[in-house]
Amino acid sequence: MNKLPSSVKIVEVGPRDGLQNEKQFIEAIDKIALIDQLTNAGLGYVESGSFVSPKWVPQMSTSADVFAGITQGNNVTYAALTPNMKGFEAALAAGVKEVAIFGAASESFSQKNINCSIDESLERFLPIMNAAKANNIKVRGYVSCVVGCPYEGEISPEKVADVAEKLFNMGCYEISLGDTIGVGTPTSVQKMLHAVSTKVPVEKLAVHFHDTYGQALTNIYTALSMGIAVVDSAVAGLGGCPYAKGASGNVATEDVIYLLNGLNIETGVDLDKLLAAGWFISDILGKVPVSKVSNAYRAQQAK
Ligand code: HMG
Ligand code: MG
Repeated sequence: MNKLPSSVKIVEVGPRDGLQNEKQFIEAIDKIALIDQLTNAGLGYVESGSFVSPKWVPQMSTSADVFAGITQGNNVTYAALTPNMKGFEAALAAGVKEVAIFGAASESFSQKNINCSIDESLERFLPIMNAAKANNIKVRGYVSCVVGCPYEGEISPEKVADVAEKLFNMGCYEISLGDTIGVGTPTSVQKMLHAVSTKVPVEKLAVHFHDTYGQALTNIYTALSMGIAVVDSAVAGLGGCPYAKGASGNVATEDVIYLLNGLNIETGVDLDKLLAAGWFISDILGKVPVSKVSNAYRAQQAK
């Protein structure tokens, strides 16, 4: 077995990726309470909203209110997605200190998600990179559909590597590789990560798994064994993607923390507080958390 990292940075995407697809409108005050609970649970990075078209993703239309209302922890990053300059300017006005741009390795997904081709998206990102530099804002880059696309099927690892390299060369400090529809298995993920790591240093890569086919934890373990030490996840396994039909939630942060605790990998996250945050938002949504760990703990407590 390859050496696993001694610590892992968790990028909590629940308030953004998790909630963006929820049909039921969630008040800003509830999103703020969730983010504050995640901060108190020790998460060092919380993706808290996105500045996208409210017609495309209505749930994220309160992002400025959310950023205005959260209590920011010391050394905690609160980031937002910005697809274009309009979004970047809105994020800046809301006091956002870190943004993410999001491209795809699939032409069809790029069109459905951000209404432009991959090349056009990269052109749109350039002025964001320049403005971010001028304003001292860090930019994270996403590549979606890194193993499969809901419209095109299998995606070649070389295509993923190409888009990842372009985002990295543009100045993104980290590239998050998104298995948007959760179809990856250790074999396909390994092939993809091998290809990408020939173009972008492995310490600059993050993995972002949706758990549609139940493979996320296995794929995370595969990524860890290849030297990746940044993992995106969503509390309570919230999520889905409005432009990826059938995609279920992100891997649950609770399940990732349980795995990492078991591997003696440091995360700084308090599992009990995280479990409480997961139940808090799930109660608002009228659901139970999509986290095996969360449900197992609750069952244990009820005994
Ligand atoms: P467009 O229609 O091509 O944009 O959309 P446009 O520039 O032609 O403008 C059309 C209208 O949108 C105009 O308003 C603009 O002002 C407005 P109108 O004149 O019609 O009233 N507009 C905006 N409003 C607010 N904020 C903005 C903005 N930009 C334009 N930033 C656009 C292009 C990218 C805006 C649109 O396609 C969009 O908002 N898409 C949403 C994409 C999204 O949020 N997807 C989910 C996140 S990605 C994801 O989940 C994957 C990830 O998790 C990784 C993984 O799992 O793989 C990251
Ligand atoms: Mg996602």
